[in-house]
Amino acid sequence: MKRVFSGVQPTGNIHIGNYLGALKQFVDLQEDHECIYCIVDEHAITVPQDPKELRKHVLDVAALYMAIGIDPRKSIIFVQSSVSGHAELGWILCCNSYTGELTRMTQFKAKSGGQESVGTGLLTYPVLMAADILLYDTDVVPVGNDQKQHIELTRDIAIRVNNKYGETFVVPEGRFMKAGARVMALDDPTSKMSKSSPNNHSRISLLDEDSKIKKSIMRATTDSDGEIRFDPENKPGVSNLLSIYSAFSGTAIEDVEADFRGKGYGDFKKALVELTKEALAPIRQNFNEIRESEELIRVLDEGAEKADAIAQKTLKRVRDTFGLGYR
Ligand code: TYM
Repeated sequence: MKRVFSGVQPTGNIHIGNYLGALKQFVDLQEDHECIYCIVDEHAITVPQDPKELRKHVLDVAALYMAIGIDPRKSIIFVQSSVSGHAELGWILCCNSYTGELTRMTQFKAKSGGQESVGTGLLTYPVLMAADILLYDTDVVPVGNDQKQHIELTRDIAIRVNNKYGETFVVPEGRFMKAGARVMALDDPTSKMSKSSPNNHSRISLLDEDSKIKKSIMRATTDSDGEIRFDPENKPGVSNLLSIYSAFSGTAIEDVEADFRGKGYGDFKKALVELTKEALAPIRQNFNEIRESEELIRVLDEGAEKADAIAQKTLKRVRDTFGLGYR
């Protein structure tokens, strides 16, 4: 069985972009893969966090993982900081990456732009991500499109070490959805849906109530030509809504276009509201039950133990590769 690894940052507002681009794949993959799903709290502290809020969000994301259908009997669910190997391998990989390749990362440029002093963690963030992936001899990494560059860097580092020191790392592949790999903001379909936008109606969070879902979709930016057609360049708003519809319903975009031919944007949006409400209602209900249960902590404790056992094997190999330690 191939091994899958992926992670989500523990911040509030996990939204349908995260779900359709990444989380939905996590659930599908666990049927025929060995899956490891992480809550990456060490990534979150690359920007300042309120410690109490951070812990709360860690548990929120863990409960969300289970609420969408990740089954701890099939998959490992754990918190990054419970396995110290991430930080250890992160350092070793830092010594095998170049500042040039890190300053070129689009996300680094976006997050550091205009700031007087930039945290080192923001620069080395993709190396820690590479460590997350390589620590588990991962074959497949399900993520949204915005992580493509980070997966490429992970592959580059793995190949570089293998070439220089001999076979040490499995070289992973990214896995991206056809529809949903890049869900755009509802208020501005030229930028991606994000957890941090100040406009709450730019996104639909997985735990949003029905009335909020309706408001956000009915307000979503479209255009004035009135035709429901997939054309991301000229009709980014309508195309984004078509992608979301396609991803939630599992229907090809062409078929969604055909179903709504001749109909108005109002009708299409109403149908999308219903589809989204239907998809999110059970997640919300499961979440509330799981978040309050004692099972959650047990799942994370057991997950950490299983993840650590795999990580230790890789670390042993990596220490041997580099000659770290004395036996
Ligand atoms: P994060 O927490 O920002 O996002 C979690 C996942 O959601 C995807 N995503 C999107 N997909 C489609 N449309 C969007 N608008 C959208 N926004 C976010 C992301 O691509 C991601 O898959 N660096 C990662 C976390 C990470 C990780 C890893 C992932 C750390 N280590 C190892 C995989 C493997 C991040 O910040 O994701």
